[in-house]
Amino acid sequence: MELYKVSDNLLEPISKAHEWIQEAQQNEVALPHAMNISSINFDGKPSSRMVLLKRIGHEGFVFFTDYDGNKGKQIIESPFVALNFWWAKTNKQIRIEGKCSKATEEENDEYFSSRPRGSQISASVSLQSKEIDTYESLVERSQEFESNHTGKDIIRPQRWGGFIVEPESIEFWVDQKNRLHTRELYSKQGSEWKKVLLSP
Ligand SMILES: Cc1cc2nc3c(=O)[nH]c(=O)nc-3n(C[C@H](O)[C@H](O)[C@H](O)COP(=O)(O)O)c2cc1C
Repeated sequence: MELYKVSDNLLEPISKAHEWIQEAQQNEVALPHAMNISSINFDGKPSSRMVLLKRIGHEGFVFFTDYDGNKGKQIIESPFVALNFWWAKTNKQIRIEGKCSKATEEENDEYFSSRPRGSQISASVSLQSKEIDTYESLVERSQEFESNHTGKDIIRPQRWGGFIVEPESIEFWVDQKNRLHTRELYSKQGSEWKKVLLSP
């Protein structure tokens, strides 16, 4: 099953990240493409949550969200983020630090239209991170939206779309005997990647 799109010929170290996610998938890890993303909030403090990787390309790692939600607004204000993957079955970790930019309208429309109708409805009625009176009122809004759109295509809300995380550093960590773990850090230097090993 294709969990996310691979849009180009990937070069090291992005290809290595892709291989590790594939390896986790082969090991039947649940949601091997789930990643933690940390952004900086309006008080200058870190804020983390999980998202799903939806495309990997030579320029970086793409996920989709609500641009008007907390993380969306934080990232637009302060685009530097950190991503983190870890899989229990392979006991490997990837840490990525980089800068976000918005995906194109075309990519947003293409991905939105590929989503199940239920997800399109949720994205339409849920204003991410906003307070709601009751959960039931949200479900009602969703049902109302659904009945008003019978037989019609659901248009992507403008506030919903992707961010591309362009990596500046990627670290690969592997669990080893006696906690003598291996760490390979790739740092972007102009258009080249420099690789060093770090102590665990
Ligand atoms: C496994 C998992 C995957 C998730 N994937 C996404 C996602 O791709 N996009 C998204 O906006 N929220 C996703 N969420 C929900 C977020 O973790 C978070 O609750 C939501 O985006 C609101 O965060 P914010 O208020 O900081 O913007 C996911 C949650 C989990 C547990």
